[in-house]
Amino acid sequence: MSFPLNRRRFIVGLSKTAAAFTLSGTAVSSLTAGEFNKRSGNQYLITGFDQTPLPYAYSDLEPVIDTMTMDIHYNRHAAAYASNLRDAAKAEGVNMKEPLEKLLSVISKYSTKLRNNGGGHYNHELFWHSMCKGGALLQDGLLKKELIKQFGSFESFQTQFNDAAKSRFGSGWAWLYADKDKQLRIGSTPNQDNPLMDLSDIKGTPLLGLDVWEHAYYLKYQNKRADYIAGWWKVVNWKSVEERYVGV
Ligand SMILES: [Fe+2]
Repeated sequence: MSFPLNRRRFIVGLSKTAAAFTLSGTAVSSLTAGEFNKRSGNQYLITGFDQTPLPYAYSDLEPVIDTMTMDIHYNRHAAAYASNLRDAAKAEGVNMKEPLEKLLSVISKYSTKLRNNGGGHYNHELFWHSMCKGGALLQDGLLKKELIKQFGSFESFQTQFNDAAKSRFGSGWAWLYADKDKQLRIGSTPNQDNPLMDLSDIKGTPLLGLDVWEHAYYLKYQNKRADYIAGWWKVVNWKSVEERYVGV
């Protein structure tokens, strides 16, 4: 199901404000993120506090990401972030019916547990939905045009993104994100931080994130992070990245 441009912008706008607009006559504030996304037909415009189903089988990203890594990553690591997030949110009085994006924008007011697990849950939800079986190529459109304008060529963009992913010391994420002026930017964050967080060095709307924690690749690639990064491009779902950018 696809939406006209203005519809997508409207929906994403909701995630920024969590305002009580309506969707099919129902106040958004009365919907959980899962209910909202189901009704909007888009699984990742607003992030809730529960894991959404993996949009493909554990084996679908083979040989780039092996089945065991996908299983452990989704069912243990990411599941733990979601569970710990809910525990912390409950303890700190967070309204879990509001978008997670709203909480992350003021995360400096909350505990380290909420920061780490809120970021961990958000980042992984975005990550799962940024990949698909066989990958989906970037088609001619707004995102491709802006990528070339900003970075010179798609290949140049990939090189800069790879550098950000390879040079992140320890655990963290590499990002393609849109800043407040909708300019495309590349950067990285430590641990489970992301550009939505008010305490992040880089700020904006995440469009594409690459998990460079060792749990994401060590079973297959061991210490060869660069090989994991190079292979990962083959499973990127550019259709979802494009939709996210159009909605910014
Ligand atoms: Fe991860």
